[in-house]
Amino acid sequence: MPNPFFLPFSLSRFGALFAAGTVALAACAPAETADRSTGVGYEVPVQPEIATGYQEKPGWTTSEFAVAAANPLATDAGYQVLVAGGTAVDAAIAVQMVLTLVEPQSSGIGGGAFLMNWDGSEIAAYDGREVAPAGADENLFIRADGSPYPFSEARASGLSVGVPGLLAMLEVAHAAHGRLPWADLFTPAITLAEQGFSLSPRLNLILEEDTDLRRDPIARALYYDEDLNPHPVGYNLRNPALAAVLRQVADEGVQAFYHGAIAEDIEARVQGHPERPGTLRASDLAAYPEQDFGRDAICTPWRDWTLCGFPPPSSGHLAVMQMLGILDHLEAAAGEGPGPDARAGAPGLEDGIPSAEWLHRYLEAAKLAFADRARFVGDGLFVDPPARSWESLLDPDYLASRAELVGSRSMGTARAGNPGALSTAFGLQPTQPEAGTSHISIVDADGNAVSMTTTIESGFGARIMSDGGTGLPGGFHLNNELTDFSLTPRDADGLPLANRVEAGKRPRSSMTPTLVFDRETGAFVATVGSPGGAAIIHYVAKALVGMLAWDLNAQEAINLPNFTNSNGPSTLEAGRFPDAVIEALRARGHEIREGDLTSGLQGIQVLPGGGFFGGADPRREGVVMGR
Ligand code: DON
Repeated sequence: MPNPFFLPFSLSRFGALFAAGTVALAACAPAETADRSTGVGYEVPVQPEIATGYQEKPGWTTSEFAVAAANPLATDAGYQVLVAGGTAVDAAIAVQMVLTLVEPQSSGIGGGAFLMNWDGSEIAAYDGREVAPAGADENLFIRADGSPYPFSEARASGLSVGVPGLLAMLEVAHAAHGRLPWADLFTPAITLAEQGFSLSPRLNLILEEDTDLRRDPIARALYYDEDLNPHPVGYNLRNPALAAVLRQVADEGVQAFYHGAIAEDIEARVQGHPERPGTLRASDLAAYPEQDFGRDAICTPWRDWTLCGFPPPSSGHLAVMQMLGILDHLEAAAGEGPGPDARAGAPGLEDGIPSAEWLHRYLEAAKLAFADRARFVGDGLFVDPPARSWESLLDPDYLASRAELVGSRSMGTARAGNPGALSTAFGLQPTQPEAGTSHISIVDADGNAVSMTTTIESGFGARIMSDGGTGLPGGFHLNNELTDFSLTPRDADGLPLANRVEAGKRPRSSMTPTLVFDRETGAFVATVGSPGGAAIIHYVAKALVGMLAWDLNAQEAINLPNFTNSNGPSTLEAGRFPDAVIEALRARGHEIREGDLTSGLQGIQVLPGGGFFGGADPRREGVVMGR
């Protein structure tokens, strides 16, 4: 049945973008009615092409509901589910399945995710993080000569593949918060996988640049021509194997993924890696759905708000709140700011750009937070927190003592603090590169809100695809999440690392899905998150400070230039900071580099008079839709 809401609305949305002259759009397929008739009434949209690179986005105002995701087709699938009366979790599932197809470099059914759902009275947090298989131990990434694999070799291997958690977690979240039938939520992805979708500029670029993906036979046949050039922008990419796998999961539930031909094919691909096979077995997959996915979100008061995020294995919320807490103490000590409990209005922005003074403090606070992250944070099911509580890392007295370490010049690198006794002494994990992740923010018409960050770890994960045993062309990517563990299990003094590999353990994450509430009334205020590896922590912190302390709207906050520090040199987003700011930081002893900091922030905030305002990152292809 044609969807009466879809065409007029979505064309006017995309049309508004086009009219603003800020995003290049080209219709490349007429709207078609899907051949699978369901409650969602899915219609394949006119497919926009959005140029890659920095593209201004207008921000989007809606009155009833909104969905923000990293690709227009994925956003649109969520929109159509919301129009059909689906909940935020229903929409998140439809968005995620389309992302598996159209943004395959970033997330999908071969990976994992953290999902938080606000139902108007409480937050439910679901941990769908991958786990290390039963055959893994702390020497997973150690070669025969005792040295660890170089990161790039560890990544592109069977060794790095964790047991995918996404589907099992989504099925549990759907049982608790879904309204539309599970199978209907797969219709957009199945339809697009069968009919094909327009290959985006960003996917084309990433396919071109990847040096490992062409070696996987399924990926080579799916994405590249005979000369190993990626299919061009606008190419109609079909993925019949993924359509068949999704149809099976839609019709039979996630058991179809964790047992039988799909699980056996995953085992065969991981164990059959030509150079670096992994141990993952079908029995590891069979065990995954038996777990408890529920976690207690950590909610932390900050100024007028309560910020809620994910506990370990995510390091994201803890690090963000450490930085914001330290910044407040520094502002209070300088006699400027409102202090931890007062209203917004802190200094920091000059001509719309974070000032050198604010950046100095932020970068120092970041070093302190990343030092604690490196020593203390690992999977909470395996690792005892300091003083028996992760919240000890956010204790105001502890953060005040950390803030005292910040002077007027750069401290270089920070050492971990001592928030309380540990039952085990942990060594310090060195930083490792992390690069494929996506963020989904949704609010539905009933007042539910979702913040979900989802990943296969690096671009295209382990560079191993599975066709689910279908024998059809195409398939899905297997994650390389296990390289989010420390490759080496111990530090130079022989102390074990909190984030070392252990069988059944989840690797530490930086994913920071966040829900914001009014501290006094408890009313929902915003949902936000980003990809970006360890830099996620900085991207989300920036967006939160922008929206909450600097009173910017979600789009303006997302647009702010990016800045990162993982307890070493600082990186500022190239071309976005005045020379005077860079020179002022260097004069204070900061080692400053400039680089691409490709955040993928998506956020939706409640407008004071009602309705919503959504923003999508100009550095990627995301859009917001709603009504
Ligand atoms: O869980 C994590 O922290 C990483 N696997 C995220 C990787 C990522 O964000 C890559 N992004 N561009």
